[in-house]
Amino acid sequence: MAVNVTRREHPGEAGFVAERIRDRRTDDSASERRALVAGLLSAPASIAPKYFYDARGVRLFDAICELPEYYPTRTEAAIFARYREDIAAAAGNDREFVDLGAGDCAKAAQWFPFVMPWRYVGVDIAPDALVPALSRLAATYPAIDVCGVLTDFTHGLELGRDLSGDAATFFYPGSSIGNFTPIEAARFLHAIRRHCRRDGSGVLIGVDTKKDRARLEAAYDDAAGVTAAFNRNALAHVNRVLGTRFAPDAFAHVAFYNERDSRIEMHLEARTAQTIVVDGIARTFAAGERIHTENSYKYAPDEFTAMLERAGFAHVQCWQDDAGDFAVYYGA
Ligand code: TRP
Repeated sequence: MAVNVTRREHPGEAGFVAERIRDRRTDDSASERRALVAGLLSAPASIAPKYFYDARGVRLFDAICELPEYYPTRTEAAIFARYREDIAAAAGNDREFVDLGAGDCAKAAQWFPFVMPWRYVGVDIAPDALVPALSRLAATYPAIDVCGVLTDFTHGLELGRDLSGDAATFFYPGSSIGNFTPIEAARFLHAIRRHCRRDGSGVLIGVDTKKDRARLEAAYDDAAGVTAAFNRNALAHVNRVLGTRFAPDAFAHVAFYNERDSRIEMHLEARTAQTIVVDGIARTFAAGERIHTENSYKYAPDEFTAMLERAGFAHVQCWQDDAGDFAVYYGA
């Protein structure tokens, strides 16, 4: 596959958006609102994790990744750094590099000098970080065809129209796969596999491992209270979306490892009885009642390898840190 070596004039952000970014978001605000209302009125109540990520939530999440207790981000980065060449050799050069949940594209860009993609596709639900990042990357790497797709791929990975059809590396770091249920995760891996039609295609994915409860729980309930603020921030976001009057501080952050299901669960627990009007309906949360906000599933390397194999990736390689705190897989 030829590398695009023509130096494009940097068109500025507006021109860049028009030419290089496809907006595949559907306006489902009415049905999303209904789902949010239904989740709050159910028992047990729940709020979908996407409500973490307003502008403040994105900043808090970045802060979580820097916390001493939150080992996944830095352990994954250490595995990437230590095995950069081996991993790059597995993934190959000159592929289309598809970054699922690209954010500010920083993790993916570290791979560019090692895998030299001819095309980069940053995929994310939110344009805020993605658009300026893509625009900068395009200026820095004129040889790479830099583009973006705005879509919520958690409802199904349908990138057919937006990919070249050539061999592609799908990049899904950060143990984001752990925020799906195992069934959804398997479905998602199958969807990636269906996009890997050409030889040389594969998935490069980072996944958290099982470990002792104390370390897992500390990672999701840090001493500085950043994860607690992140969790409560979902209520502030919900207030803006639904016009509800949740007092975020009236809810305690609860995070624990559910060993039977191999997952961290995050909840917001009413400190005292609270009655909240949700879409015209008075919903009382008893003292101690919880709203479930997220799961983060943990996989032993043999389990996740088997999951990749079941999804159709016949050749799976795994890299870990010495302590086995995190795992990076390449499946082809
Ligand atoms: N997927 C990562 C994890 O589960 C990051 C993450 C998502 C996260 N939601 C979170 C981390 C909430 C802390 C709290 O670890």
